[in-house]
Amino acid sequence: MPPTAAAAPAVRVRGLEKSYKELEVLRGVDFDVDRGSIFALLGPNGAGKTTVVNILSTLLAADAGAAAVNGFDVASDPDRVRESISLTGQFAAVDEVLTGRENLVLVARLRHQPDPGGLADGLLARFSLTDAGSRRVATYSGGMRRRLDIAMSLIGQPSVIFLDEPTTGLDPQARLEVWAAVRDLVHNGTTVLLTTQTLDEAEHLADRIAILKDGRILVNGTLDELKRLLPPAKVEYVEKQPTLEDVFLALVGTEDLSKTKDLP
Ligand SMILES: Nc1ncnc2c1ncn2[C@@H]1O[C@H](COP(=O)(O)OP(=O)(O)OP(=O)(O)O)[C@@H](O)[C@H]1O
Ligand SMILES: [Mg+2]
Repeated sequence: MPPTAAAAPAVRVRGLEKSYKELEVLRGVDFDVDRGSIFALLGPNGAGKTTVVNILSTLLAADAGAAAVNGFDVASDPDRVRESISLTGQFAAVDEVLTGRENLVLVARLRHQPDPGGLADGLLARFSLTDAGSRRVATYSGGMRRRLDIAMSLIGQPSVIFLDEPTTGLDPQARLEVWAAVRDLVHNGTTVLLTTQTLDEAEHLADRIAILKDGRILVNGTLDELKRLLPPAKVEYVEKQPTLEDVFLALVGTEDLSKTKDLP
């Protein structure tokens, strides 16, 4: 890696603009993502989150502005960008007919890894999928598929991982499983940029949160910084009611997240 790349933030976005015909989706988006951090891009349906991720992963060209990943410009150096990243799209990309292990081995071969089988076994263990590894993915729950997806994204040790809505459509327990897997990613210095529609996901996972609205970043900061944007809450004495999520988790159980779910 050249010295300029090592010193650069993992992701740098400046003045990014993108329209689809008359629809102006991005109107000047700016943000940086520090190396080894989790950055959440939060926004409602249609805000342009996937558009940003697709530009950063070189799948889509911006109309104006600049974006660099790992110090490499996405427009002028797309090959170096692709070598630095992995993308887990909004919809799981695992092959249903293959087993979990076969999916991992296939991707490891495609990425020219020296020991595909050993790598697959290590990843299955890391994502609590060892028992399920020999089963076809068609029998997996949503959370297991997502964990497999994330495991696949780690093959080849990309330094920046994009996760587009990693938990949309998952039940609360599966979300917790995926959150644990995502937190695990940054332990060895990987940078994660994830998109989400839910505040609590950003709150639980991210070091920094940026809110994308009307084509621009509305706010960008740590959770504490974002909370300080609002006046302090009034102190009120109320009986604390459990949230629906508390009730769901109490009934469905969260006791051992490493356990895979039994399926018929
Ligand atoms: N290829 C395309 N052609 C035309 N319009 C598009 C295209 N891709 C996205 N759009 C539109 O651009 C806007 C932003 O889409 P994008 O998928 O980036 O939003 P998003 O924030 O990822 O939304 P979601 O939360 O639903 O995934 C939407 O209005 C969408 O309909
Ligand atoms: Mg999207």
